[in-house]
Amino acid sequence: MAVSAFRDGAVQPVGLALPIAPSFLPPASLLAVLPVSPLPGPAAARDPEGAARVATAVGSRPTGDGLAARVRWLAAPSGAAWLAQALAHPDLVLLDHAHCERKAAGAALQLMFRYPGDGELAAVLSPLAREELEHFERVQALLAHRGIPLRPLAAPPYGAALTALVRRSEPDRMLDSFLVAGLIEARSHERMALLAVHSPDPELRELYGDLLTSEARHFGLYWLLCERRFPRERVAARLVELAAAEAQLLNGLHREARMHS
Ligand SMILES: [Fe+2]
Ligand SMILES: [Fe+2]
Repeated sequence: MAVSAFRDGAVQPVGLALPIAPSFLPPASLLAVLPVSPLPGPAAARDPEGAARVATAVGSRPTGDGLAARVRWLAAPSGAAWLAQALAHPDLVLLDHAHCERKAAGAALQLMFRYPGDGELAAVLSPLAREELEHFERVQALLAHRGIPLRPLAAPPYGAALTALVRRSEPDRMLDSFLVAGLIEARSHERMALLAVHSPDPELRELYGDLLTSEARHFGLYWLLCERRFPRERVAARLVELAAAEAQLLNGLHREARMHS
């Protein structure tokens, strides 16, 4: 296991200069083609070089050890402690993953209901929600195959704490909602990339390798929704703030293994 390749305390404290600058943000030209781009499949994610190729293709960059995806939206990479916890509790993470997929579909639907007159938003988020439900069904099928019943799980504070950062007045509310959704997608993508490389279970490596490309496309779509509605500088500035908060939330590992613990 290559956990030792990760630096302890890799998550940087808020207040330091963030590694997100406008030049690091996904170029619109790349994101515009993401929904139809042929991305590397699970085979690429099962080896370190393949993972790096996946990361590069979706707007990430490999970290120095070449094993982990460094996602450009994120202010700090996941640390070794999370990976060790997740690898020690694969069934729990898989169950939580099912809930995450369902929540991601729900978040997209919620935005469609909140802005019912926005046709472009619906055109982007309706297929995204459908795809998240397909992911949920795939994870649910694997859970059933393994004899793990679908049951409620106490959520870590991550999602609710991020949602609490969404400003209440429009249009800030819309911008923050897109960015928070995108950050969750980005973190999911990063962590699935880690599991796709480091899990000792071939079935799980294949699952995460298959799904991580979709999550990367999803955070690209949320970025596009932002960029079509707000000045790029404003989006980038708010992303820096929210990304710092997102990294800070993951600074203390949640006591139970979760996708976002
Ligand atoms: Fe998904
Ligand atoms: Fe997603």
